Amino acid sequence: MQFEPMTAKPTLLITRKLPEAVEARAARDYRAKLNIADDPPDGQRLVREAEGADGILCTTTDRLDAATIGRLPQSVRVIATFSVGHEHIDLNAARTRGLIVCNTPDVLTDATADIALLLILGAARRASEGEQMIRGDQWFGWAPTHMLGIHLGGKRLGILGMGRIGRAVAARARSFGMVIHYHNREPLAPKLALGAKYHATPESLLAVSDILSIHAPLTPETRHFLDSRRIALLPARAIVVNTARGGVVHDDDLIAALRTGRVAAAGLDVFEGEPKIHPDYRTLPNTFLLPHLGSATRETREAMGFRALDNLDDHFAGRPPRDRIA
Ligand code: DGY
Repeated sequence: MQFEPMTAKPTLLITRKLPEAVEARAARDYRAKLNIADDPPDGQRLVREAEGADGILCTTTDRLDAATIGRLPQSVRVIATFSVGHEHIDLNAARTRGLIVCNTPDVLTDATADIALLLILGAARRASEGEQMIRGDQWFGWAPTHMLGIHLGGKRLGILGMGRIGRAVAARARSFGMVIHYHNREPLAPKLALGAKYHATPESLLAVSDILSIHAPLTPETRHFLDSRRIALLPARAIVVNTARGGVVHDDDLIAALRTGRVAAAGLDVFEGEPKIHPDYRTLPNTFLLPHLGSATRETREAMGFRALDNLDDHFAGRPPRDRIA
């Protein structure tokens, strides 16, 4: 009689509750340590729970800084983050430790671009104010001059960071009649730019952005990029939309500009220090706010989980993971 060789499944620490289908696949293919209660671990607990794990499937709420990475058990060889953003992982520290790190690009592009359009519309058409009026029973009927917003057709949309998500926002915005401008380190090939006007500097982009949509990652260079000096470059009564990372915006400066009307409105899905957001955003009438919902559709979150597992499967099968970032 011949026996199949016993190959132990790798042990995978999953730091947050993931969609059911993703957890089911992880439990089928790994010795999966799940976080059913979904209480986010701090660095110390993460290190403790990684004991004996071969890999970690983490999210943007896990802070994998150099100190935490340095204390991870030697058994851990790979980290797959359930996100495209990776500012929560110190990639240099991971490289130094010989850890492989992967993210989940592509699969959340459309969902995030949809939310950017929702924010543009919500900010331009005063959706938050209108909704509060109805909920507060303060609507006293239609009037020709009631709650006039900003028309999108013909406006210049400035896209800061014309990667996959920026281009998906541009595609949607064109159907609203917006004129697309962008800044990237390099101009895009014409078949990707599709007529969008390139700006070699962010400052030149700001000067034409009736609506500014931020799609730049958070790095030491982009932290607090949108401060009072740069806000002053925007056209009067511009709209600011952010679906990237809150830290790219200087909150006090944007709030001051929203207060005076220098910036007409802001649509924000991400916040510095979230979920503890700057309290003034809540009280301003001209903000349209969402709790980091960019990728929050069932289909997208499942696709993100499967993409993270694909990367882990590749690693444990000895293949190079498709989305390796370190
Ligand atoms: C990401 O993937 O970076 C998103 O912010 C999560 O929605």
